[in-house]
Amino acid sequence: MNPFVGETERDLAGAVAAWSATLAERIPAAEKEGALPRDLIAELGALGVLGMTVPEADGGLGASAVAFALVLEELSAAWPSLAVGVAVNSGIVAGSIVRSGTARQRKRWLPRLTDGTGLGAFALTEATSGSDAASLRTTARHERDGWRIDGRKQFITNARYAPFAIVLARVGPLDPKHASAGITAFVVPLDARGVSIGPSERKHGLRASDTSALILDDACVDDNALLGEAGKGFAIAMSGLDGGRIGIAAQSVGIARRALEIARAYAKERRQFGRPIADFEGLRFRIAKAEGDLSAARLLVLRAAWLRDRGMAFTREAAMAKLYASEMAQRATHAAVQILGGNGYMRDYAVERYARDGRATTIYEGTSEIQRIVIARSLIAA
Ligand code: CAA
Repeated sequence: MNPFVGETERDLAGAVAAWSATLAERIPAAEKEGALPRDLIAELGALGVLGMTVPEADGGLGASAVAFALVLEELSAAWPSLAVGVAVNSGIVAGSIVRSGTARQRKRWLPRLTDGTGLGAFALTEATSGSDAASLRTTARHERDGWRIDGRKQFITNARYAPFAIVLARVGPLDPKHASAGITAFVVPLDARGVSIGPSERKHGLRASDTSALILDDACVDDNALLGEAGKGFAIAMSGLDGGRIGIAAQSVGIARRALEIARAYAKERRQFGRPIADFEGLRFRIAKAEGDLSAARLLVLRAAWLRDRGMAFTREAAMAKLYASEMAQRATHAAVQILGGNGYMRDYAVERYARDGRATTIYEGTSEIQRIVIARSLIAA
């Protein structure tokens, strides 16, 4: 029983868990190829999962943030590479359009995030602006017939599958005393003139998830591409990341949960010194501790989501959930590999993949250090 979870949320998560259980045999080939199968993205669209956070009036499921967290836990337990694509599409990208888009933008762009033909992208990071997001250098200038955007975005999840990206660019000169001022959000169709995608990154984990550069070379978009007000894009990005961090925290919970499930099953089967290794107290204590940490992380995730569902402030709670859950996932996947010993280090057992995939959770959507900054600022002020 969980106080944050109602029947509707449980039903949706249960349906996704059942669907996810069919994925196992697709994973090795897709991870090797470095691409998500398009038919699975289409299935997620048909199931309504891609539109789970989109209001019913806009054609989505209108599910709660709690449901979003539970669904991401299930998808991540099955396949973290797929889950991060959904997290970005249905979390930060859909959320930003829902919150800041005009009626026309919602009508035009939300169906493209929900119909299963692709996964949306969010383009904030650049080679020289990662944690210090406000120092971004991509520029946008207004011309007679719309906007021209110039810059190079880096490490963009879903770039290869995306119908469009939310791009953060600077309008006007950089004010060194107020770097975030002037940052503006745009909805940039990836088939717009002047937009191209760089080569896919070769990553430690999450290998089926695409991560590419997005190159904007005098990219042309019309006036309808402006998301929110000119100069107010940094707040759109930051509040998008608040919600996105709940998703990555939930992803961490899913990764840790599955790695620990595999380790427990293995420990009951594997015999050494004449008995199952699960009989040894050192291992039992390790499993008990990891399970407690996992439950604590899930509760932090659900608390942040629950606050969000009630329209209450949740920036700090999302950062706490992301910080705790992602760090917990490192310990859990490390323990899982250790429990499987030599087998844990081999690719035949999925725990080595969960350990590699889980490593990203302390980095993307804000490193652990950034989460600590967000938490400390909210407690002590800047
Ligand atoms: N919601 C709304 N507005 C916010 C906000 C929030 N949570 N946090 C800050 N703001 C506003 C502030 O109120 C301020 O507004 P004014 O200028 O009007 O006063 C403005 O934003 C600037 O705020 P700060 O002074 O706090 O900004 P900062 O430069 O000190 O940066 C930071 C703050 C928290 C360090 C931020 O830069 C940050 O989050 N960095 C990490 C970036 C990040 O998470 N990148 C992830 C990339 S996306 C990704 O990973 C997706 C993926 O592929 C999986």
